[in-house]
Amino acid sequence: MKIVSMRFWTRGGIDKNKALVENLKRCGVIRSRKVAEVMESIDRGLFVTAGNPPYADSPMPIGYNATISAPHMHAMCLELLEDRLQPGMHALDVGSGTGYLTACFTMMVGPGGRAVGVEHIPELVASSIENIRKSAAAPLLENGSLSVHVGDGRLGWAEHAPYDAIHVGAAAPEIPQPLIDQLKPGGRMVIPVGNIFQDLQVVEKKTNGSIDIRTETSVRYVPLTSRESQLRNY
Ligand SMILES: C[S@@+](CC[C@H](N)C(=O)[O-])C[C@H]1O[C@@H](n2cnc3c(N)ncnc32)[C@H](O)[C@@H]1O
Repeated sequence: MKIVSMRFWTRGGIDKNKALVENLKRCGVIRSRKVAEVMESIDRGLFVTAGNPPYADSPMPIGYNATISAPHMHAMCLELLEDRLQPGMHALDVGSGTGYLTACFTMMVGPGGRAVGVEHIPELVASSIENIRKSAAAPLLENGSLSVHVGDGRLGWAEHAPYDAIHVGAAAPEIPQPLIDQLKPGGRMVIPVGNIFQDLQVVEKKTNGSIDIRTETSVRYVPLTSRESQLRNY
C-alpha cells in the first residue's frame, strides 16, 4: 500500500496564517472574499525559509539573492488579477520563487484551469515543488493543473499560452515582448517595471489586441535578470 504523507499546515500555522489574512482585510489590502479564502488555505509558513518569521508582513530572504515577497504584495497582486483567475483560466507566474503565489493561482483557477510557474534558479524550483506538495495545492500539482519549470521567465512559457493572467515577481527594465505576446486578448498582466525606482504596472490586452498600461503603485522588487547576474556576489 502506498502511504502518502502531506502536511497542509505548520504547527500553529492555521491560526497565525488566518490572523495575517484578517490583518490584511482590516487594512483594506484584501477586499475580495475569494482572495481571503485562498490566502487562508495556503499556509505561508510552508513557504518561508526556516529561521525567518513566516507571518510577518515583509519580504524574507530565500537564498540565491532572492526573496519571498511580502504578504501585502501577494494580496495586492491576487486582488489585481482576481477576475482573470476564474475557474478554468490559465495563469503564469514569472519568477515563481517559493511557489507561494503559483499555489494561490492554482487554487483560484481550479482543476479545470492551469497555473504555471517559471523560475530560473533550479534549486528554488525544486524547493518550491516540495513546498507545494505540503500545501493545500498538492492535489493540483498531482493532477498536472499546476506545474513549475526551470527557465528564463523573460521568455514566458509558451507551452501553456495564451494566459488570462500573468504575474511577474521581479522588476523588468521594460516589459518583455514574449510576455505581451503570451497574454490572451482580454487578459491582464501585473509586472513591476523599472530599475531602482519601480512601478507596479497593470497591462490589459484588449480583445482587439491593443495594449493599455496603468501604474498601480510604486514598489521595490529584485530584478528580472539573467541567472549569472543574479548570482554574482552570492
Ligand atoms: C521577489 S522574488 C519573488 C518570488 C515569488 N513571487 C515568491 O514570493 O516566492 C523574484 C524571483 O524571480 C526570480 N527571477 C529573477 N529573474 C528571473 C528570470 N529571468 N527568469 C525567471 N525567474 C527570475 C528570482 O530568482 C526570484 O526567485
